[in-house]
Amino acid sequence: MFSRLLSRLGLFAAPLFALVAAGCSKADLTVRQSTLDPKGPVAQMQYDVFMDTVWLVVVLFVLVGGLLVYAVVRFRSRPGETAAPIVEEGHGNPLVEIGLITASIGALVFIAVPTLSAIWYTDDVPAESVPKSKLSAWYGQPLDKAVAEQVLEIDVIGKQWWFRFEYPQLGLTNDAKHSVPNEMVIPKGVAVRINLRSEDVIHSFWIPKIAGKVDLMPGRKNRMWIQADQVGHYYGQCAEFCGDSHAYMLFRVEVLEPADFAKWVAAQKADAAPVAAGSKAEQGKNLFAAKSCVMCHNVGGHFGAGAFGPDLTHLASRKSLAGAWLDNRDPKAQRALEQTSPLGTEASVPVDRATFKANLIKWIGSSGIAAGADGQPTKDVKPGNRMHYYKMFNVAGLRETHQKLTADELDALAEYLLTLK
Ligand code: CUA
Repeated sequence: MFSRLLSRLGLFAAPLFALVAAGCSKADLTVRQSTLDPKGPVAQMQYDVFMDTVWLVVVLFVLVGGLLVYAVVRFRSRPGETAAPIVEEGHGNPLVEIGLITASIGALVFIAVPTLSAIWYTDDVPAESVPKSKLSAWYGQPLDKAVAEQVLEIDVIGKQWWFRFEYPQLGLTNDAKHSVPNEMVIPKGVAVRINLRSEDVIHSFWIPKIAGKVDLMPGRKNRMWIQADQVGHYYGQCAEFCGDSHAYMLFRVEVLEPADFAKWVAAQKADAAPVAAGSKAEQGKNLFAAKSCVMCHNVGGHFGAGAFGPDLTHLASRKSLAGAWLDNRDPKAQRALEQTSPLGTEASVPVDRATFKANLIKWIGSSGIAAGADGQPTKDVKPGNRMHYYKMFNVAGLRETHQKLTADELDALAEYLLTLK
C-alpha cells in the first residue's frame, strides 16, 4: 500500500524534479535575461540574498517534510489492526514550543540581515565604489557642465513604450538634442548612478544580469546604481505593467571599455552625415519631412523640431528597433556566436543591413499606415504605440492621419534611416 503511494507520488514528482533540475542546470544560465548569472556587484548582492533564502527554505522543507514522512510511515495503520483510539490532546511541551519560536526568530533574522544590508547597499553608490578620478579627467574632454561629482549619472526616462537615456554631465540630453533611446551605453567596471523618471505611467527598470528592478514613478524621483564588470551586450526589460505594449518595452545595455566609452560619447554629439543628392535616401529624407515623422523625431543636422519620440540621429548604429523589440542583427549569426564566444549571450554580432531594413519597413509600415498584400491594414508591431496613434496630440490636422505609405515610400524611408550611423 505504502510503496504504491510512493510510486504514485514519484509519477508526479519526477517531471517536477526534472523541471527544477533543468532550471538549475549550467546550460540554462546562458539565457539572456538570467538573474542567476550576475555580471556586476549589485546583481551579485541580489543573487546572494536570493541564495540565502533558497538554502534556508531547503533546510525547512527537508525538516518539515522529513517529519511528515516519518509520522506517516511510523504511525500508519497496519492490516488487521483495529483502529487505535485517538490520543487525547494535551498542552504540549513547553521546551519544544520555546524552541520552535526561537528557531522561527532565528530564521527571520537569517533572512533579514542580508536583505536589509542589500537594500542599503543597492540604494546609492557606496563610498568604496566611487571612482578615484573626476569625470572630466577621465573623459579627457571638456564637459558641458562643471562636474564636481565623480560618479557618472544617467537619467532614465520611461515612456509608453520605450526608454530614453540622458547623460546630463556629458551634454547628452533631450534638450541638447542628443538623447539616447533604448540602448544605454556604460563604461565597464565603473559605478553609475541611475536616476529613474517617468513621463506617463509607472514603468520598472530591470537588467537581470546587472541589477534590478526599481520602478519609474510619475512625479517621483527614484534612484539606484549599477556596475557591469564584463564588456558586452546586455538585455533589459520594463518590469511593471504599463499598458498595451508593456511586453514589448525592452532595452539594451552596451558595456564598453572606458576608452571606447569616451569615443562613443564624442560620436553621439556628431550630426548625421548629409545624404547623397538624387539618391533613394534623399527621397526618404524628403518623405521624413513630408509625412510628419519630423514632428516627433530629431535627426541632428537634418531636422531639429522633434523631441517627443526617440532621437534618430544615430539610429543605424543601434542593434535593435522599436523599443529594442526588433533585433537588427542576423539571428542565425547571433545564435552561433552566443554558443561559441566565451562572452556567452553578451557577445554580439554587428547589425545586419538586410535584417535592419526589413525591420524598419515592418515597423514603419505597421499599424494600418501601410496596406498589406491583401489590401488590409498591416498588423501592429507594438499595439497602441504612439508612433502610429497620433490622436493623443489632439492636433486637429493630425487626427486619424493614417497615411498610406506605398512599398516604394517605405523603401525610401528605410534607405534614409539606414544612413543615420
Ligand atoms: Cu513600461 Cu511596462
